[in-house]
Amino acid sequence: MLLENKVAVITGAARGIGRATALVLAQEGARVGLVDLLPEVEETAAAMARSGHRAATAVFDIADAARVHEGIEALRQMLGPIDILVNNAGIVTNVASVARMTPEAWQREIAVNLSGAFHMIREIIGPMAARKWGRIVNVSSVAALGGLHNQVGYAASKAGLLGLTKTVTLEHARDGITCNAVLPGLIATELVSAMPAEIRDSAVALTPARRLGLTDEVAHLIAFLASEHAGFINGAEIPIDGGMRLNASSLGSRREVGATRRAL
Ligand SMILES: NC(=O)c1ccc[n+]([C@@H]2O[C@H](COP(=O)([O-])OP(=O)(O)OC[C@H]3O[C@@H](n4cnc5c(N)ncnc54)[C@H](O)[C@@H]3O)[C@@H](O)[C@H]2O)c1
Repeated sequence: MLLENKVAVITGAARGIGRATALVLAQEGARVGLVDLLPEVEETAAAMARSGHRAATAVFDIADAARVHEGIEALRQMLGPIDILVNNAGIVTNVASVARMTPEAWQREIAVNLSGAFHMIREIIGPMAARKWGRIVNVSSVAALGGLHNQVGYAASKAGLLGLTKTVTLEHARDGITCNAVLPGLIATELVSAMPAEIRDSAVALTPARRLGLTDEVAHLIAFLASEHAGFINGAEIPIDGGMRLNASSLGSRREVGATRRAL
């Protein structure tokens, strides 16, 4: 097992990539703390219990620094010192052009997707550095590389995560801590299944693999980055996108933008 005797905390664990990652980290031997805004995170814990893994849960908003402080303290009490942090929680609040994006939607996307990861790292990094071992994985997006039509807050927050990732590496690599970003393309989660089919199909057509990614594929990459084996991978941006970024200049082409507008 890759993660025996490790304690891992993962945000956004109620569903999608976060839920799949929680299950894989537990299968690899970690004791897992599940964080989400939704009480449904208890269902992830129940699914883990059914496969023989105990998990601790904490329901809080990662955008709220004070709640993050309390939540991490509570998880430490239940699980012990935190070895692994996966910053996975993320949102898209608004799909609109730059001119039509509301300041509120922009601010919430930055607050959750970027500041949320900062708050979490800020809480765990000191004790991690003192113990001279740690793994942080930030879930960014291929949107960080090429931007994304009609999702400026999302793309900017995901690009900001890359700067956060690299700075943590620069400051803490000598403490035995790695901090890496994974950049998923389109992954088959509930959120993506609910997208208008025309947009989803256009994105698949731009993916050389001609399919959506699986949540388990992302989860196993995260588990590897969280393991001892990945100790010399640091400050990296690792796409997991079936090659989609190679066609990034076509993403949001006139056809898709048109489809997005019609969907609004
Ligand atoms: N699904 C994709 O195709 C895809 C592609 C690229 C990147 N990503 C990124 O992967 C991550 C997971 O995506 P997903 O598709 O599984 O999303 P999802 O919406 O299915 O799950 C996100 C989880 O985060 C939780 N969350 C949202 N805001 C929160 C907050 N303020 N505090 C605590 N928890 C909060 C939600 O309740 C939810 O359980 C996100 O960061 C997303 O941007 C997803």
